[in-house]
Amino acid sequence: MIKISPSILAADFSKLGSEIESVKDADYIHFDVMDGVFVQNISFGFPVLRSVRAITDKTLDVHLMIETPSRYISRFLDAGGDIITIHVEAETTKHLQDSINIVHKRGKKAGLSLKPETPVDAVLPYIERLDLVLVMSVEPGYGGQKFMPKVLPKIAEIRKAIDRLNPLCELEVDGGINAETAKLCIENGANVIVAGSDVFMTADRAAHIKELRHEPS
Ligand code: DX5
Ligand code: ZN
Repeated sequence: MIKISPSILAADFSKLGSEIESVKDADYIHFDVMDGVFVQNISFGFPVLRSVRAITDKTLDVHLMIETPSRYISRFLDAGGDIITIHVEAETTKHLQDSINIVHKRGKKAGLSLKPETPVDAVLPYIERLDLVLVMSVEPGYGGQKFMPKVLPKIAEIRKAIDRLNPLCELEVDGGINAETAKLCIENGANVIVAGSDVFMTADRAAHIKELRHEPS
């Protein structure tokens, strides 16, 4: 089954409660944290995550675009994150392993993300211990960018590795997703689709989420 994870970075924050309610047909809620260091942009952090946690039972899919994220894993868990994904480029090997351990000890799911230029090899050593791999299909930092088709072979390669090493691990794609690019990602092996602008700019979000799944009706 294909899962959809709307990124609330593209939501109207003045009415975040109803924005989240409007995507209740989705599977996860994608929560993009940016620190102005790992990426240029700054988004939101613990207080917003706590508020979102208070109003939804959906799985909160937290994507940390922050430098040395191991410093903050426990606090994002405390604030209500269910899946904590950090960037493989943002930590040393030891701290990546420690971060995965902290998440698992709390009974939550651990993900690793790669930027478009980062090779598959960077995540391979961790796949057996991961719950999710997140392939960025834009440079992280901003919503509303154009999908980079060059990541499709990388998605296919990671799918093969997951099937071989840890078939329960999810494969998520994030950035520039619309109905057309979602289809390409799914064809190449993705099973979780993040969409920000495409979902929150649409009036009929339930119908659009259904369309993004590309499942036979
Ligand atoms: C980009 C973020 C994405 C972003 C996706 O750095 O990680 O989750 O919000 O936005 P769209 O779907 O608008 O490309
Ligand atoms: Zn994201």
